[in-house]
Amino acid sequence: MSKIIAIDGPSGAGKSSVSRLVGRRLGFLHVDSGALYRIMTWQALARGVDTSDPEAVAAFAPTVEVECRPVDGKVAYFVGGEEPGDRIRTAEINAHASEVATVKAVRDRITATLRGMAALGDLVVEGRDITTAVFPDTPARFYLTASAEARARRRRKEEVEKGIASASEEAVKESLLNRDRIDSTRRYAPLRKADGAMEIDSSDMTLDEVVEAVLAALPEGWREQH
Ligand code: DC
Repeated sequence: MSKIIAIDGPSGAGKSSVSRLVGRRLGFLHVDSGALYRIMTWQALARGVDTSDPEAVAAFAPTVEVECRPVDGKVAYFVGGEEPGDRIRTAEINAHASEVATVKAVRDRITATLRGMAALGDLVVEGRDITTAVFPDTPARFYLTASAEARARRRRKEEVEKGIASASEEAVKESLLNRDRIDSTRRYAPLRKADGAMEIDSSDMTLDEVVEAVLAALPEGWREQH
C-alpha cells in the first residue's frame, strides 16, 4: 500500500515548497491538490460558467477532463494535452477558486481523482482537506500554518519571482484572508486542523527547518526506505 503524507493549511503557509522538498528527499511524488481546483475554475471561467452559481458549476464539473501523470517527481496535470502552467495562477483565478471549491460535485470529483493517485506510488499531498477528508487515515498528517503577514509576504514574493505580481502586499493579504474565510467556513470539507494532525507554525521558521520537522515526525521506517 502506498504511503501518504498529507499536509493541509491556509494559503501561503508554505505547503507547496515544503511538500516538494519532502517529496524529493523521500522519493515520494508531490501532489498539488489546489491546482485541480484551480483547473476547474480556469475551465469554468473560460467556458463562461457563472462561478457564483453552485448548480451551474456542479453541472459543468463532470465535463472537465484532467490527465494526471508523474513527471519529474510530481503528479503533473494535462488539459487537452497541455499543462496549464501559470494560466491557473492569475488574480482572477485566485478570486474565484474558493467559491468553485465550495461545490460538492467539484469536491467529490477531485477527491476521487486524488485517491486514485495512490496507485502511482508514495505521495506527499497538499491542500485544505487532505488530512480531514481525502486521506484521513494516513498516519502522517500535518497542519502547516503561519501568520497572515508572513503568508502574504511569501505569496507576493513568489508572484514577483514568477513575473505575475499584480497587487501590493496588502492586497495579497486581503485576497488570502478572503480565501481562508471561504475555505474554512464552507459546508463540505472545510479547512480545519484534523484531530491528531501535527501543527507546525512556520512564521519564524526557515523552509529547511519546516522540512526537517516534517521528516522527523514521520512514522518509523518512512525516512529510511529510499
Ligand atoms: O492551494 P491553492 O491556493 O492553490 O488552492 C486554490 C483553492 O482551492 C483554495 O482557495 C481552496 C481550494 N482547495 C480546496 O478547497 N481543497 C484542497 N484540498 C485544495 C485547494
